[in-house]
Amino acid sequence: GAVASSNVVWHHATVTRERRERLNRHRSVNLWFTGLSGAGKSTIAHALEEELYRRGCRTFVLDGDNVRHGLCADLGFSDEDRRENIRRIGEMVKLFLNAGVIALTAFISPFRDDRQRVRELLGEGDFIEVYCRCSLDVCEQRDVKGLYQRARAGEIPHFTGISSPYEEPEAPEVVVETDTRSLEACVDQLVGYLEQRGVLE
Ligand code: PPS
Repeated sequence: GAVASSNVVWHHATVTRERRERLNRHRSVNLWFTGLSGAGKSTIAHALEEELYRRGCRTFVLDGDNVRHGLCADLGFSDEDRRENIRRIGEMVKLFLNAGVIALTAFISPFRDDRQRVRELLGEGDFIEVYCRCSLDVCEQRDVKGLYQRARAGEIPHFTGISSPYEEPEAPEVVVETDTRSLEACVDQLVGYLEQRGVLE
């Protein structure tokens, strides 16, 4: 069909991803954090970013704060909206990778299919799934934002772990045990993984 994009002329960048990666002296990859609300996704992503910045890496954290208020402000928490949320984030990550950046994404992303679609969009080498494993009990005890209490009271419909499912990753590249290990230990684990994988020099 005559979609609008068929009239768009694609310009090929002469400054390629490979050249940007050489300039940056690190590869661009996506660390895809997934896990329950309160499992520590954003906290670890930001702490890891701090360490990567210290090492001279170009990074950016994408999370609910900078995505659900803007690009995805029209989306709620139905299965379909979450799916669209994750799809848009995947497309955005693709642009960040072409920009030579290490993109750290912190979204619940509760559905295996949705995460798999991002993996396929980016390709195996660029998608590093990091499961922030933490029991629902512990997340609920932490209840940093008071959302679990409100969800239990029936005030928040489709709340992940309470009235909406979370599908655990089957083969994540990394599992960080956030209920038993310190933030520092989780960050060290991830830095070690990135070194071993050749993302960092
Ligand atoms: S998703 O499922 O990946 O599209 O969700 P995400 O974009 O990561 O947004 C999750 C944050 O939104 C808040 N919130 C909810 N979470 C789950 N279920 C419902 N119904 C809900 N309503 C609001 C919550 O603060 C999540 O933040 P985190 O950082 O995960 O605790």
